[in-house]
Amino acid sequence: MRIAVYPGSFDPITNGHEDIIKRAAKIFDEVIVAVLVNPDKRGLFSIEERVELIRKVVTPYSNVKVESFSGLLINFMKSHNAKVIIKGLRAVSDFEYEFQMALMNNKLDDSIETLFMMTSAQYSYLSSSSVKQVAMFGGCIKGLVPDPIINNVLSKIREK
Ligand code: PNS
Repeated sequence: MRIAVYPGSFDPITNGHEDIIKRAAKIFDEVIVAVLVNPDKRGLFSIEERVELIRKVVTPYSNVKVESFSGLLINFMKSHNAKVIIKGLRAVSDFEYEFQMALMNNKLDDSIETLFMMTSAQYSYLSSSSVKQVAMFGGCIKGLVPDPIINNVLSKIREK
């Protein structure tokens, strides 16, 4: 069974993330979306909330699971018997950081491969932080985050 892990912060999941998940789910037997627990970075949503939002979005994809992890990604991969990391690339500016992480993960465990997928052109400008800014200042986030979570994002912003 070919298992891939799609790691990230997902604060919150965007249409760009969903696009990558949908495409990866066609290539692999199972895709695990892995939300990083980062004690240094407090986000808008708690880790549990991020996992819940992603679960809402991936219900149509039967071979996609959502979990959180802390520590090294390669340890999470090992415990799930996964050999491939999926990353989305939006622009050349993503490349340097992603290249460094891919090399580091490969150095830590050379049985792990990182597979880069180019984000679909219509989502190339999207990021979780820009979505938060747009929502914060009253802009429309339809088309930026998946429809099932639009209200969750708006009410969270209102709460803060
Ligand atoms: O959505 P992000 O914030 O770009 O995701 C970054 C993520 C979660 C993929 C990365 O920070 C990560 O894998 N962190 C876990 C720590 C780790 O394994 N580090 C070694 C590779 S440099």
